[in-house]
Amino acid sequence: MVGRPGGQVRGAIPTSQVIGVLDYQVIVGPGLLEALGTVCHRTAPAHSVAIISDDQVAAHWLRAATRAVTDAMPVARVSSTTVPSGEASKSRAQWAALTDWLLAEGAGRDTTVVALGGGVVGDLAGFVAATYLRGIPVIQVPTSLLAMVDAAIGGKTGVDTPDGKNLVGAFHQPSAVVVDPLVLSTLPAHHLRAGMAEVIKHGAISDAAYFRLAATWGATVHRARQRDEAVDFSGPQALDVIGRSITTKAEVVNGDPRERGRRQVLNAGHTVAHAIERETGYAVLHGEAVAMGLAVEAELGERAGVTAPGTGHALRSALGGAGLPTWLPAGMDAGGLVAAMRHDKKARAGSLAFALLAAIGSPAGNDDAGWSTALDESLVREVLSSPAPALP
Ligand SMILES: NC(=O)c1ccc[n+]([C@@H]2O[C@H](COP(=O)([O-])OP(=O)(O)OC[C@H]3O[C@@H](n4cnc5c(N)ncnc54)[C@H](O)[C@@H]3O)[C@@H](O)[C@H]2O)c1
Ligand SMILES: [Zn+2]
Repeated sequence: MVGRPGGQVRGAIPTSQVIGVLDYQVIVGPGLLEALGTVCHRTAPAHSVAIISDDQVAAHWLRAATRAVTDAMPVARVSSTTVPSGEASKSRAQWAALTDWLLAEGAGRDTTVVALGGGVVGDLAGFVAATYLRGIPVIQVPTSLLAMVDAAIGGKTGVDTPDGKNLVGAFHQPSAVVVDPLVLSTLPAHHLRAGMAEVIKHGAISDAAYFRLAATWGATVHRARQRDEAVDFSGPQALDVIGRSITTKAEVVNGDPRERGRRQVLNAGHTVAHAIERETGYAVLHGEAVAMGLAVEAELGERAGVTAPGTGHALRSALGGAGLPTWLPAGMDAGGLVAAMRHDKKARAGSLAFALLAAIGSPAGNDDAGWSTALDESLVREVLSSPAPALP
């Protein structure tokens, strides 16, 4: 449910949408960072607020966030710290350093953690909040497009280990998620594109009309960035696309909070994406790998007779328009990718499983048969070794 203007925060935050699908509110509005303190005060009243960010995000947005909290909660103690930007910070070592920092700050159960950053900070600070004193509140303030529409929604938190990503973690739902699209103005273009892949995926698994809207916005943003023009992140198109993308994820996780069934549909493109990430040693951004995965899995689905003809074409057109890759990079080894898929922690014993689309706007599957499709390894190898289908 999007566009319930006001909701519980009516008056204080007039221009926002409140996505009330989940137990907590996801609030979306340009300039909302200035209202962060009000949201904190109303959703997680605390005597102290500990803001965790990364150094790149902090350089642009920490001062505004701190001021917003201090202004709205004058008697609260507000402290902040940063970790180095990048996936390497999503580690047990940083988790230990941050929990030590909270202890040194005297943080107690009356402390709220604010996670100000991309998915790395959201997952890491969320996991710190999930485990500190067996769990204290966290408010997610996602600053990358990927974190806004994906990582901050759903309550998964955690860190990586040398064995793989996200292997140690916990479900910990935030008290609120504060999404201010204006912060995207400082997000590097390649990260903006990467987030767009998940936005396009959300369209593809939910609604054909929304998919077209997402594709149009993706192309608009890409063109503007190519020409070095400013992107309007406060306009109705941006707000609508971001809001609907969040709603799509929220509705899916709400129906399946612990990933037993329908949440699988969010893994569209991801079996192949995870394999590409492993094969390239994480040299490609997750969103870029998802773009390739969506294209490849659509082709797989079409050849297996599960996915409507033309679906891959529509996806490649949307992804290409947004400046994203539309097929595997040259020289990718099909055998290596298949081996990597078998290692995926979500792989079913003995088969390769994919969250396929039935068509643009509808995932393949149902609650009885499940939401992933097992495919023959030979077909998978064949498609992975095929040249890129002709561009639309
Ligand atoms: N919990 C979940 O359900 C979930 C879902 C998807 C992804 N994730 C996780 O999210 C992480 C990826 O998230 P990400 O792509 O946001 O990566 P990220 O947090 O590393 O952010 C990408 C880069 O952009 C910078 N940045 C972020 N916002 C900025 C802004 N407004 N201005 C300037 N720079 C900014 C960051 O410093 C970083 O360098 C991965 O660790 C992934 O596992 C989690
Ligand atoms: Zn993803």
